[in-house]
Amino acid sequence: NWTADSFVESTVAALKEKLGDDKVVLGLSGGVDSSVAAVLIHKAIGKNLYCIFVDNGLLRKNEYEQVLESYKSLGLNVKGVNAKDQFYAALSGLTDPEAKRKAIGKVFIDVFDQESHLIEDVKWLGQGTIYPDVIESVSVKGPSATIKSHHNVGGLPDFMKLKVVEPLNTLFKDEVRAVGRTLEIDPNILQRHPFPGPGLAIRILGDITAEKVQILQEVDAIFINGLKNKGLYNQVWQAGAILLPINSVGVMGDERTYEKVVALRAVSSVDGMTADWCHLPYEFLAEISNEIINKVKGVNRVVYDISSKPPATIEWE
Ligand code: XMP
Repeated sequence: NWTADSFVESTVAALKEKLGDDKVVLGLSGGVDSSVAAVLIHKAIGKNLYCIFVDNGLLRKNEYEQVLESYKSLGLNVKGVNAKDQFYAALSGLTDPEAKRKAIGKVFIDVFDQESHLIEDVKWLGQGTIYPDVIESVSVKGPSATIKSHHNVGGLPDFMKLKVVEPLNTLFKDEVRAVGRTLEIDPNILQRHPFPGPGLAIRILGDITAEKVQILQEVDAIFINGLKNKGLYNQVWQAGAILLPINSVGVMGDERTYEKVVALRAVSSVDGMTADWCHLPYEFLAEISNEIINKVKGVNRVVYDISSKPPATIEWE
């Protein structure tokens, strides 16, 4: 009979046995899986777990600072790495979605490889792989696919030659959350919506600039905070905003404006493979739209995406 408590107890014991005095490096994403994996491994080996959390400049507003803080308060040995400029430089001028994904994957690998070289004599790579990732290893979008497509020429980066430890690879998502609750991880981390590895880069259609990222962060924060304040966040599987590469005409006072359009997307789903658009209350959408247009400079129009998957995908890129 599976319980989160017994899972934690037996897994921590097994990790102690397996890892001994070895060092482990693990990349935190701010998401549920890597966070729970880190806390479990930390429980087994303490400071020998070296966590790395990379700021790619494509996270939600204030997320890097907030998540880093909550990792520290969990007692994790975590190093935050600000690599924004490297990511923006690699993305400069790229508009094709797959080209953007590849560029981001490559910079991430370079940064992570460099950071893991700083840990003397590290033996293991910790990962938050969960059971569905194992059975769906055919997924073309995951980070490992990016890794493969980039490093099949010239050999693997060194951290990928480490032995892999994946304490969650027999669990489903709801079990991972249950384990996270047992480990007293911040509910804000455990209930977090899925967020794509390439982050806001695939929600800014066209090329990426720091300025566009900032506009989208503001829009996204208004939408997500609105969902939380109205008690809608946990009823939605995933939500976010998309910055469209077009301007539209508007009026502001007596002035004609010609500014950006943003789309809001909220879906219900079980596993992301299929999804329905959420029938959010009109009053809520009206409030959010007003707030965005009034507060975010450079945006004069908000639309709501009413497409389901299939045939649309959740992300626009
Ligand atoms: P789509 O757009 O394919 O998205 O319906 C399904 C789920 O996958 C996420 N997604 C990604 N996650 N790297 C990721 O780590 C990616 O390149 C990527 N593209 C999509 C998406 O956010 C949704 O949860």
